[in-house]
Amino acid sequence: MTSDSPAISADAAAGAALAAALEALPKVELHCHVEGTMRASTVVELARTAGIPLPTADVTELYRYTSLDEFLSVFWLVQSTLRTRDDWARLGYESVLDAARHGRVYGELFFTPARHLAAGTALADVVAGLADGLAAAEAETGSITMLIADIDRAFGPAAGVRMVEELGRLRRANAPGMARVLGVGMDSTELGVDPASFREAYRLAARHGFRLTGHQGENSPPSAIATLVDDLGAERVDHGLSLVDDPELVARFAAERIPLTVCPNSNIRIANAFPALAAHPFPAMRAAGLLATLNTDDPALTDLDLGYEYASCAAAFGYTFDDMVTIALDGVAASWLPAAESAALRTRISAAADALRPD
Ligand code: ADE
Ligand code: ZN
Repeated sequence: MTSDSPAISADAAAGAALAAALEALPKVELHCHVEGTMRASTVVELARTAGIPLPTADVTELYRYTSLDEFLSVFWLVQSTLRTRDDWARLGYESVLDAARHGRVYGELFFTPARHLAAGTALADVVAGLADGLAAAEAETGSITMLIADIDRAFGPAAGVRMVEELGRLRRANAPGMARVLGVGMDSTELGVDPASFREAYRLAARHGFRLTGHQGENSPPSAIATLVDDLGAERVDHGLSLVDDPELVARFAAERIPLTVCPNSNIRIANAFPALAAHPFPAMRAAGLLATLNTDDPALTDLDLGYEYASCAAAFGYTFDDMVTIALDGVAASWLPAAESAALRTRISAAADALRPD
């Protein structure tokens, strides 16, 4: 068969139609770091303004990693360019414009302010700046974005407690932007860190009424995932990859519908955990009944977007359009939207799916 034979062209056309429909499908994202959405051009501009030397004129040259810890050092450099409330506003604004272009209608985004707080930035300025930018982009695109304040494990448990204390103060004071901060999570390195050491911060966050999630199982065993949920009280797990190594825990998470915010392409490009999507356990997770959702993690730093995440997973795992709509609806189920808004978004996604379904 030649490369332009009718059978191959028909397959290619069907693949392209599926990708286009998935790009347009309204989608939810629950695992995306706002700093990881920063445009390369914005990194360069903010670094220049802040007088931060970058090791190369083309920052995308930095975006190659062979491990999570290597990635994190680039992530930290990108974070360090954010100095003022206006910088955070610009980041929030551009982040939502870029995501809305690929069909994201609702997101719960992480921000991780540990190094800014350690440098003397006020958490109030970070939250207010982000919220300004998110609101401006929401007015233009209709894409809604809420926030999750992540503890950076690399700064240790005491810094985590201090961040949550300040979040609690800002929430009680109804400070600008705090209505968008739904929850508390934690990210950064997992190697050699016992999640239980963050118990006090999580307890405090729960007392202040924040929802709880956390990165775990990207680079740590299933026992660490169990600790996050059972000891720290997390309602969701970000990544949760290693869960598949513990069939009993898988069965329990499936029965309890504990959501996992999985990022298959990130696991290839950042964690270098798999050579290609075909080797990723996402289909096994779904087949086991897990509430495993699809997300990009750090799209600008990894050259990803949510439309591509859906289309590439559909192609690699042999999923139909309706399989992908089910995954999109599971994103809503895993979200922290209030019941009425969750129901409305489900209806919106189903109606759009009916209009977009390829022949
Ligand atoms: N911060 C940004 N991306 C991350 C990831 N994939 N894992 C842990 N921390 C992160
Ligand atoms: Zn992440």
